[in-house]
Amino acid sequence: MRAAKQKQSGKTNTNILDNIADYFDSYGDRWIDVYQDEKERWYEYYPLRLREKYALLLTENENKGTAIDLGCGTGHALIQMKKMGFQRVIGVDISDSMLRSAEKLIGDNNLSDSIKLFKCDVQKLSMVQSNSIDVCTALGVIEYLEKDEPLLSEISRILKPNGVAIVQTRNYCCVRSRTVESFRKILPFYRSRISFRKHKPSSFRCKVEACGYTLECERYAHYYALYPLDIIPGIRTVIKPIDNFLNKKLERLSTNPLSLYFASMYIAKLRKVNVVNG
Ligand SMILES: C[S@@+](CC[C@H](N)C(=O)[O-])C[C@H]1O[C@@H](n2cnc3c(N)ncnc32)[C@H](O)[C@@H]1O
Repeated sequence: MRAAKQKQSGKTNTNILDNIADYFDSYGDRWIDVYQDEKERWYEYYPLRLREKYALLLTENENKGTAIDLGCGTGHALIQMKKMGFQRVIGVDISDSMLRSAEKLIGDNNLSDSIKLFKCDVQKLSMVQSNSIDVCTALGVIEYLEKDEPLLSEISRILKPNGVAIVQTRNYCCVRSRTVESFRKILPFYRSRISFRKHKPSSFRCKVEACGYTLECERYAHYYALYPLDIIPGIRTVIKPIDNFLNKKLERLSTNPLSLYFASMYIAKLRKVNVVNG
C-alpha cells in the first residue's frame, strides 16, 4: 500500500536515498571546512561545531565501549569520540564523497585501525549487532528521512540497555526559521535542492517515548541575535561580524527552554529504557 503510494508520487525510498547521497556528494570537500581552523576569532560563529560539542558533552559520563555516529559526514565527531576515550568508533553515511573525506581525516589522525566506516542507510544498520552500542549520535540526519520511527527503532535495536542516543535536528519553533521558510515558499530561487523536515520538540518528545526511550536532556544551538536584519540582503553582510559576536553570546542560553523560539537547532539526549522481563 505504502509502496503504491510512493510510486504514485514518483518517490521510492531508493529515490529519496539517491537524492540525499547526490546532494551531500557535492558537499564532501566543503563540509570539512566547517570543522577546520579550530581557532575562532571574535567575529566568527560556527554553530555546527558548537552543536557537535554540545552533543559530545552529553556523552561524557557514558560507558566508553562502542560509539557510532550516524550520518557521520566528514568524520570530525568520530575523531573527537576516539579522543574522548571510546574504544571502538563506527561512522555511517550514505554519501561517497562525505565518506572519502572522513577516511582522509581518520588517516591523517592515524586512527584507521580503530575507526570503521560503513556506507549504508542509517535506517538499516544490518552490519551492527543488536544491543552492542553504548553511545549513538545522529546529528543533522533525521530531518532528511521521511519519518522518525525507522531510525529511532533501529537506534533502539543497536543500543545496549541503558545506552544513549544524541539526536540533533532542525527546530520547527524557531521564529527566524519559520519566516525564512515562508519566503522560500514564495521565492523558488531560495528553495533548498533537497527536502528536509523540522521537528517540534513537543511532538518529538512524545515520539521518542513511544519508541522506548526516556528523554534525559534537551538543549539548543544556532541563534539569530539581529533577526530580522540578518535576512535583508546587503544589510546582512554589513552586520555579520557583530551578529556573529552576539550570536556566540546567546549560546549561553543553550539550555534555557526559551531558546525554543530563538535557536534553529534542537538536541535531545535519549536513553534506551531498560526492558525488565516478567
Ligand atoms: C547535514 S550532514 C551532517 C554531517 C555530520 N553529522 C555533522 O554534523 O557534521 C548530514 C549527513 O547525513 C548523511 N545522511 C543523510 N541521510 C542519510 C541516510 N539515510 N543514511 C546515511 N546517511 C545519511 C548525509 O550524507 C550527510 O553526510
